[in-house]
Order: sequence, then structure tokens, then C-alpha cells
Amino acid sequence: MPVTGGAGKPGTAIRVSGLRKTYGAVEAVRGIDFAVGEGEIFALLGPNGAGKTSTLEILEGYRPASAGDVRVLGFDPGDRSTDLALRREIGIVLQDIAVDSFLTARETLAQRRSYYVDGRGVDETLELVGLSAKADARVSKLSGGQQRRLDLALGIIGKPRLLFLDEPTTGFDPSARREAWDLVRSLRDLGTTILLTTHYMEEAQELADRVAIINAGRIVAEDSPDALGGRDKAAVHITFTMPSGARVEDLPVDGRALDGNSVRIETDDPTRALHALTGWALDRGDRLDGLAVTRPSLEDVYLNLTANDATRTETWVS
Ligand SMILES: Nc1ncnc2c1ncn2[C@@H]1O[C@H](COP(=O)(O)OP(=O)(O)O)[C@@H](O)[C@H]1O
Ligand SMILES: [Mg+2]
Repeated sequence: MPVTGGAGKPGTAIRVSGLRKTYGAVEAVRGIDFAVGEGEIFALLGPNGAGKTSTLEILEGYRPASAGDVRVLGFDPGDRSTDLALRREIGIVLQDIAVDSFLTARETLAQRRSYYVDGRGVDETLELVGLSAKADARVSKLSGGQQRRLDLALGIIGKPRLLFLDEPTTGFDPSARREAWDLVRSLRDLGTTILLTTHYMEEAQELADRVAIINAGRIVAEDSPDALGGRDKAAVHITFTMPSGARVEDLPVDGRALDGNSVRIETDDPTRALHALTGWALDRGDRLDGLAVTRPSLEDVYLNLTANDATRTETWVS
């Protein structure tokens, strides 16, 4: 089981408290707190401009914080005297593709491999990211998705204890995305702590032990993907097409007629409601066509929590 470490507890890989980042007049990060336990996959989920990359780059030691306290594997990433020690323990996949185009994939990895005392083999790493067949191709000849895989390879070749992934699968086709997810899971199984950002709900749902939704520089919700925003306790919707000749008033539970012949029932007790409904339909010799039972999706929760925010509209436009 992953350690869901609170601030300062042993087993905490990352601890962030009161973090702020301003660029001139822009308040990109407005006081956020979170902790990531060792071995955990934690996702920062949020729209463009929410402050995800700024947060990651501070944790990676690429940018100074404007205020707040940050610990990464016990280090202060802003402390230049311990910079190198921290760098050896972490892997980084930046948001933008970061590889030189004139080297081959293998040369690029071999160069990076030489920074680490105890890294992975180049061929093993190529294999892990599914690039073996392109080992000797120049980076400039790789597709966008293949270049991204090479970024991922650069992030893991040092066998990092902690891996930062900033939108790791943006630009991937669906099958490449699933392969990347398998890779991330296998890294987790090896004990790697992973902090990732994404704006794909499905990615957060599939990979993360815990998710924080960040919007306009603030964390607006934090929980496991299944429980975020009270999803696990939210009312269930049962929908189906009304059997011909039946009316909403005839139903054994309270329902609401929607467009067409659809009916929706909202209930906190879906077991009982379904039992009553299906019993009612069978007694009548009817079917409940289109029967579906749903809870709010992660996307529903996300859209709800990130809606009605002026900053969001602004940043989407920019
Ligand atoms: N170097 C920078 N200079 C000025 N503003 C920046 C810089 N980097 C990011 N910002 C601004 O900070 C806000 C957060 O950006 P960012 O951290 O990249 O968010 P995200 O990764 O969630 O899209 C945005 O409004 C962005 O325009
Ligand atoms: Mg970003």
C-alpha cells in the first residue's frame, strides 16, 4: 500500500506548504499545500494556466518559489549546495519535448546515462519505453509521440526514486498512452514515487493513488480519484426508456421524465431502487431498454470544481 504521508511524517517524498509563485503581476500559484508519500502516484489535475508546471518546476529546482516551504526527498530544491545530490535521485520529464535533434535516440540516452552512477542500461530503457526499433534513428526523424517516449526514457534512465512527469502523454495516440500508463505502473511497482500533471481525467483515474485538482493557483479538491468531490457518496442516476403504455406515476420509485421517453431516477440506495424497478418491469412483461446506472464521473466533478472562474477563461484564451 502506498504511504499517504501527511506533512512531515516519515515516508513523505514531497512536502509543500504555503507555496506561492508570482511572475510580475501574475499570481500563478496562490498558496498550496500537499504531501506525496513514498511510492505513491500523485496527480495534479487542472486546466491550462492552473499553475501545475510552475509547481513542478519549483519542486525540480528549476525555479525559485516566491514564498512557502518545499521539501523533496528531504532536500530544499532551491538550495544550490545540495542541488546535485537531489538531481541524482530524481527523474524529470518536462512539459515540452527537450531532446536535441541531431543525435540518435541511443546516443541521447547514453549521454544522459553517463550522469548517473547506478542507472538503467540504454537498451533496457529503450525497451521499456517501446523505442528499441528506433534506437539508431535521429531524434529529428522521430514522430512527436516517439520523441515524447524518448523524454520518458530520459526521465527514467537514472533509476530515480522520484519521477516528475509534466503532461507525459500529451500528443500520444490512445495505444501509446496505454503503454505509457503500463510503464508508469511498473515504475510504481518498483517503488518509484511519481508526481504527474495531466489534464486527461482518464489518466488521473487510471494512474493516481491521489489527485489534487488545481485551478487558478489553488488546490480546490484532493482525494483518491474515486472519492474526489464526494463522488463515491454522490447520488446514483438510473436512466432507462419508459416501457410503452407506462407513465412516470406508475413507477414504484420517484422518477423524472426527460426528453423523449427517457426517465431518470436519482437515488442514494440504488440496490433497492433497481430491485423495485426491475421487479416492476418483469411483472409487466416489459424491458427497461437503455438501462444505465451512473455516478458523477471524475470529469463531472472536475468541470464542476473548475467552472465559473474568470482566470480559467482568460488562460484558455491566451
Ligand atoms: N515564465 C513565466 N513568466 C510569466 N508568466 C508565466 C511564466 N510561466 C507561467 N506563467 C503564467 O503562470 C500561470 C500558470 O502557468 P503554468 O504553471 O504553466 O500552468 P499549467 O502548467 O497548469 O498550465 C499562467 O497564467 C502562465 O501564463
Ligand atoms: Mg503546464
